[in-house]
Amino acid sequence: MLSVSGLTKVFDQQPVFSGFDLTVTRNRFAVLIGPSGCGKSTFFDVLTGVTAADAGQLCWQGKEVGHLGELAAYMHQKDLLLPWFSLLDNSLLPARTGGGDLHMARSRASQLFSRLGLSGYEEHLPHQVSGGMRQRCALVRTLMFNRDLILLDEPLSALDAITRKSLQSLLVLLQSEFDRTLIMITHDVDEALLLADDLYLLSVKPMAIREKIVLHGKKPRRFDDPELLSMKDTILQKLQGDIDHVSC
Ligand SMILES: Nc1ncnc2c1ncn2[C@@H]1O[C@H](COP(=O)(O)OP(=O)(O)O)[C@@H](O)[C@H]1O
Ligand SMILES: [Mg+2]
Repeated sequence: MLSVSGLTKVFDQQPVFSGFDLTVTRNRFAVLIGPSGCGKSTFFDVLTGVTAADAGQLCWQGKEVGHLGELAAYMHQKDLLLPWFSLLDNSLLPARTGGGDLHMARSRASQLFSRLGLSGYEEHLPHQVSGGMRQRCALVRTLMFNRDLILLDEPLSALDAITRKSLQSLLVLLQSEFDRTLIMITHDVDEALLLADDLYLLSVKPMAIREKIVLHGKKPRRFDDPELLSMKDTILQKLQGDIDHVSC
């Protein structure tokens, strides 16, 4: 579905990544995990055209494209809600700007507000609700784009454990029942192991894939699986090793 080759981005004469390659096939759940500052968010920004690549090629369903633009729904690491719009109006922006059927969009938004525990807060402004609620509203808005490919940059990081679990199930549902392809950035190893089909361990900047782990087993997975637990230890050691190496 998406193939990236030789992607390069340089900030202040320093490569954030150089010659980065990644292929994501349809209906997979790809998870990127790596040290803070390694270039994960910049990678999504380059994919979606928020910032330009310095080199490299992007192919969507076999055809070269400059960037994904409208082909993907992108949930940025910051919630980017418009402060003067209510939560509901923020979630309806994709329908308004894309010229969709507003009546249907309202009904879908209402279902998502309920599913994500936001019912009753439709008319609140972003500054009147918690960070976790803003993050959930940003997730609603992302889903309202109704795209086959969804890019999520740490989408559940501001949530409490119970809400996070419920939204993890929602993401699994999106993939399994609605045939979506997801690429998610997280720093949470547990979350990565519970959700990923393809888990990419990334190196420190310049970002490169240091290992791809293919996970099997029906989702939602559970942590009473000894194989998953031992994988968690190995991954944590690898990520920790990277950070120790940098700070030496
Ligand atoms: N607009 C920018 N100008 C200069 N440097 C930037 C800019 N955006 C990000 N960087 C740098 O690029 C690196 C990767 O940042 P980022 O992609 O946000 O990392 P991550 O999401 O993995 O934590 C960091 O060193 C950061 O300081
Ligand atoms: Mg980031």
